[in-house]
Amino acid sequence: MGERTLAIIKPDAVKKRVIGDIIRRYEGAGLQPIEMKMLTLSKKEAEEFYAVHRERPFFDSLTSFMARGPIVVLVLEGEEAVRRYRDLMGATDPAKAESGTIRAVHGTSIEENAVHGSDSSETSKFEVGYFFPKMDINSR
Ligand code: CMP
Repeated sequence: MGERTLAIIKPDAVKKRVIGDIIRRYEGAGLQPIEMKMLTLSKKEAEEFYAVHRERPFFDSLTSFMARGPIVVLVLEGEEAVRRYRDLMGATDPAKAESGTIRAVHGTSIEENAVHGSDSSETSKFEVGYFFPKMDINSR
């Protein structure tokens, strides 16, 4: 079974028509999608989801961007899923992301960086629960 982490394919990547390419990379890395849905966040929902960043100067811009269009939200499962998905995404700023990572390939800017992933197993419990409240978060 392994660990679970939350993944978001952001509005920039959906608009660029790379949903399929990104999910192929998840599967190719052994990160198995076990839940998935497409939706558009309201501004308020984006603010709730990113509440840990509410004091940051980029909070308003980030939450407007995340509410701009449809996103795809997935729960990925695998051994050390949190860390391995972060490695697969690359650094937050696509310009600094290692070549071959999802953000290096599909990201546009530090904000429009194609994908989100939980940054710790603690965060993943909040994030999975936010989008999939009926899931058993004590999966391991
Ligand atoms: P994500 O992994 O979803 O977590 C928070 C998001 O905030 C991040 O990806 C970026 O989209 C955005 N972000 C982080 N740092 C900055 C920044 N300095 N300027 C603008 N957006 C940022």
